[in-house]
Amino acid sequence: MRRKIIAGNWKMNKTPSEAVELINTLKPLVANEDVDVVFCVPAISIIPAVEAVKGSNIEIGAENMYFEESGAYTGEIAPNMLVDAGVKYVIIGHSERREYFAETDETVNKKVLKAFEHGITPIICCGESLTQREQGITIDWIRQQIKIAFLNVTAEQAKTAVIAYEPIWAIGTGKVATTEQAEEVCKAIRDCICEIYDEATAEAIRIQYGGSVSADSAPELFAQPDIDGGLVGGASLKPDFGKIVNYNK
Ligand code: PGA
Repeated sequence: MRRKIIAGNWKMNKTPSEAVELINTLKPLVANEDVDVVFCVPAISIIPAVEAVKGSNIEIGAENMYFEESGAYTGEIAPNMLVDAGVKYVIIGHSERREYFAETDETVNKKVLKAFEHGITPIICCGESLTQREQGITIDWIRQQIKIAFLNVTAEQAKTAVIAYEPIWAIGTGKVATTEQAEEVCKAIRDCICEIYDEATAEAIRIQYGGSVSADSAPELFAQPDIDGGLVGGASLKPDFGKIVNYNK
C-alpha cells in the first residue's frame, strides 16, 4: 500500500517572513499521520521554513535545483546546498520552468539523476498542453517525458521517486481534470514505469495529480487507484490546504 504524498507548490509567492507566518497558520491544519506532507517553497525561504516546521509532520522541498555540483553558474542552487539546508524533496521540470526557463526533458533527466545522487527525492513533473490533448497524443507525450526523465535512473532509485502528472491546461485555471482523465494518465505512467523497470517498481513509485486541486476535488481524485496524492499550487497557500491534506477524514 503506497503512502499518499500531498505537496504544496508555493511558486513565486510569499516573502521569507510571510512564509514563516503561513507555515505557523497551516501547521496545525495539515496534521495527518496517514500522509506525507511537503511544502515546496521559494529558495530564499527554505532556511526559515525548515526551522519553522521543526517538530511537525511537514517536510520542506525546493522548487528547482541545478544539475552541477558547484561553480560558475550565477543564480543557480546546487544540490548539496539544498541538503545542507534540510531539504528532502525537489520539484523538477514543472511546466512553468519548461515554458519560461527553457527546461527540457534532457535537463530534467540531469537534475533527477543529481537529486538521487544527493539523496533528495525528486517530484518529477509531466503534463500535456490543451492542444496535445485535443490532438489525442496525451499518453504518447507523457510516456516520452517519463522515458527521458528516468534515463539511467536505477530501479531502486525509481521506487522512491514521485511523479506529478499536471495537465498544463489545468494549472492555475480552476479547470481540474476529471477523475477519469487524471486516473487514465496516472495509470499510463505506472504502466510505463512497469515497462521500463518491473512490476515492483511500478507498484512502489508514487504518482500525484496536480492542476487546480481543491478541497472539493481532492477526495475523489486521491481515491483513484493510481493517484497517490497531489501537487497543489494556489490552494496550498490557503487554510484550504489543511482540508486537502485531510481529504480522508
Ligand atoms: P494549481 O497549480 O494547483 O494552482 O493549479 C498546480 C501546480 O502548478 O503545481
